[in-house]
Amino acid sequence: MSRPRVVVARKPPGAAFERLLAASDAWVWQEDRAVPPDLLLDRVREAEGLFTMLSDRVDEALLRAAPRLRVVSNMAVGVDNIDVAACTARGIAVGNTPEVVTEATADFAWALLLALSRRIVDGVHYVREGRWQEWSPTLVIAHDVHGKTLGIVGMGRIGLAIARRARGFGMPLLYHSRSPKPAAEREVPMAYRGLEALLAESDIVVLAVPLSAETRRLIGDAALARMKPSALLINVARGPIVDPQALCRALTEGRLRGAALDVTDPEPIAPDDPLLSLDNCLIVPHVGTSTWETRAAMCEIAVDNLLCGLRGEPLRHSVNAGALRR
Ligand code: NAP
Ligand code: GLV
Ligand code: GLV
Repeated sequence: MSRPRVVVARKPPGAAFERLLAASDAWVWQEDRAVPPDLLLDRVREAEGLFTMLSDRVDEALLRAAPRLRVVSNMAVGVDNIDVAACTARGIAVGNTPEVVTEATADFAWALLLALSRRIVDGVHYVREGRWQEWSPTLVIAHDVHGKTLGIVGMGRIGLAIARRARGFGMPLLYHSRSPKPAAEREVPMAYRGLEALLAESDIVVLAVPLSAETRRLIGDAALARMKPSALLINVARGPIVDPQALCRALTEGRLRGAALDVTDPEPIAPDDPLLSLDNCLIVPHVGTSTWETRAAMCEIAVDNLLCGLRGEPLRHSVNAGALRR
């Protein structure tokens, strides 16, 4: 029997990738940069399966070029890089990697929260630049984390994992989702708020919602105006949820104390983006799940999803279950 044709838009870290190569006739983009869109369009012509990452766009143009496609496996939990409705309309299953990304992303949200709150990066630069000539009681002085009110926007898997960690810091917790989450509240004491109230009451706001038409630019001028000038904003969700120009204005004008972003709009952020010149804005290159352990676990699920789809079986994790073409 001939092996199914697969296109791998980006080579993943993780031993599971060998299983995909063994079970399929795979074309693999070998370079450690995004595959040029024209080349991808050409390669998907015969493909039955497509392995993607968050930096690969799967849109109408690509789907039109890939008439034999049956499954798209995204090595991420977020699928905003994929036109899921267009895939569903064509009977193409879309797989993602939930759960295995949750703890690493929550750890990373806390890493950003602590680094921003306690000015870790300022301290590192201060020492590296040879400015530590003598100690002073106000050296790299910042604000407490413990006891501050943490507001989490998006009480899903990652939101709850962030909330669990807050208990050790003795932080009162608020959260917002489209609907209250009584089971999460039973596990971690926290209070539901409308978005406006959460923004107004929180000292630190963490974003953990998926990017959708509803959440695009959720945090713009109006939302930022609700926040305390002493507040901090952490985004580990998706860049376009925050309006970068509004954020820059708020940070520059002292209407928001600081921000830490794992995700930006666009990605990568332009080297001359004004946000990069602000000391009160920490930006890292979308690396929330970037640990060897988590990337291997993501690869494992993404490979399973692709192989299941090619066999005509339900995926381990699908965002459009039932779409699969037999
Ligand atoms: P999840 O379990 O689906 O949780 C998302 C939560 O957001 C849901 O509980 C949902 O609750 C809430 N939500 C959805 N739309 C909303 C809206 N319009 N307003 C308010 N709340 C809304 O997803 P997850 O696994 O926690 O992942 C969340 C997102 O994090 C992913 O989609 C991805 O974009 C991002 N992520 C980023 C990284 C990184 O590297 N930085 C890593 C992993 C994930 P309701 O339905 O009640 O609203
Ligand atoms: C990473 O950003 C993911 O969505 O898994
Ligand atoms: C700080 O280092 C202290 O000893 O209080």
